Amino acid sequence: MTEQSDDRTGRKILIVDDDLNSRILVRECLEQAGFLVEEACDGEEGLSVFERTGPDIVLLDVIMPGLDGFEVCQKIRESEAGGGVPILMMTGLDDEESINRAYEVGATDFTSKPLNWTILPHRIRYLLRANRAITDLSKAYEELKTLDKAKDTFLSSVSHEFRTPLTSIRSFSEILLTYDDTSPEEQREFLEIIRSESERLTRLVDNVLDISKIEGEKMFWNDGLVGLDEIVRDSVRVQQPLLEEKGLQLRQTVPPDMPLLFADRDRIQQVVTNLLNNAIKFSPTGGIVRIWAEVLEGKRFGEPSPLIKFAISDQGIGIEEQDFEVIFDKLSQVCPDALTDKPGGTGLGLPISKEIVLHYGGNIWLESRRGEGCTFFFTMPSASQSQQAAAERDPTEGRQRSGEDKRSA
Ligand SMILES: Nc1ncnc2c1ncn2[C@@H]1O[C@H](COP(=O)(O)OP(=O)(O)OP(=O)(O)O)[C@@H](O)[C@H]1O
Ligand SMILES: [Mg+2]
Repeated sequence: MTEQSDDRTGRKILIVDDDLNSRILVRECLEQAGFLVEEACDGEEGLSVFERTGPDIVLLDVIMPGLDGFEVCQKIRESEAGGGVPILMMTGLDDEESINRAYEVGATDFTSKPLNWTILPHRIRYLLRANRAITDLSKAYEELKTLDKAKDTFLSSVSHEFRTPLTSIRSFSEILLTYDDTSPEEQREFLEIIRSESERLTRLVDNVLDISKIEGEKMFWNDGLVGLDEIVRDSVRVQQPLLEEKGLQLRQTVPPDMPLLFADRDRIQQVVTNLLNNAIKFSPTGGIVRIWAEVLEGKRFGEPSPLIKFAISDQGIGIEEQDFEVIFDKLSQVCPDALTDKPGGTGLGLPISKEIVLHYGGNIWLESRRGEGCTFFFTMPSASQSQQAAAERDPTEGRQRSGEDKRSA
């Protein structure tokens, strides 16, 4: 569709004019140019047709019995739907005062009678285009304002989150420096707190940097062929002490022969580790955590392309349905007490996981009921044939090694 036809097709024009002859001529001219035309023979009727039909543009005569064009224009502008509709005033009055008055009451443009039939359709198309540009701009401006506000909220939540561990590090180190009579047990306890709060600070800095890198498209994605089974194996190894500490049983079924992914191994591991860490954190002692994966049929560019689906379930506190979206949102998440008591979390693990999964064209979601545990899922497309071929040609893009393989190399 050309730009021109886009501006004509189905665009509805309302002509408000008491002169029947003039209405007939305008209708003929505009219908020939491809517009849909509605008519009204005076101001009162103009207002009711405007309300009933919701035109894209109004052609308004100035001198009419009853309500004149200025009054109609003002009333349209005051109405709920009339704020953004272009109004072209048509009149034989071409004195300065009338033109000023027209703009004062909200006219978009002004044209003198008799009308020029060649120029009129172009003028209308121009006004429609300009109006659309203005609407798009104001929409973009509103979106920017919302984003700017969201950024401020995020920054202030982040600074608040930084302040909490910093305050406790400062207080406990001051106690240790000020009082000589603290017992060795107390000293140890305070040092433990200082250490764990420093770790929390480091995680927070890392996460904030990660999310801003991904959102600012500054993240370097070191993509290569990688197997989900290896990633799960490594993540479990890292979290093993926590699993044991909580007496949790882990059951996993991730077939080793699944199609490979073409992705940054560390980033996918970050997703899996966060999901596993959450399952552990929000589980009571002695529960079961299950991890499984399967291959789904998928399509890419019309060609069959398997999709890998990963799932992890726990028997923990669960999540209310109203929070299913919220927990993936960095803005509502950075405040750690927003949903539950989050032991030492930054609330950014899931927002980062979502960004990573979306980057690779996958999806992430959950199923849960409060008090009955959660199941988190994500899908990712498997490596395409061309990615596999490229990886075979270039060994630097070849299969990425697991942490264990790297260490033993
Ligand atoms: N398995 C789960 N069971 C119950 N609630 C969960 C689970 N996973 C996530 N949540 C809720 O979603 C929130 C966000 O999780 P997310 O991983 O983003 O942050 P976190 O775990 O608090 O912090 P971090 O990931 O930095 O350690 C959690 O704080 C918790 O409220
Ligand atoms: Mg987490």
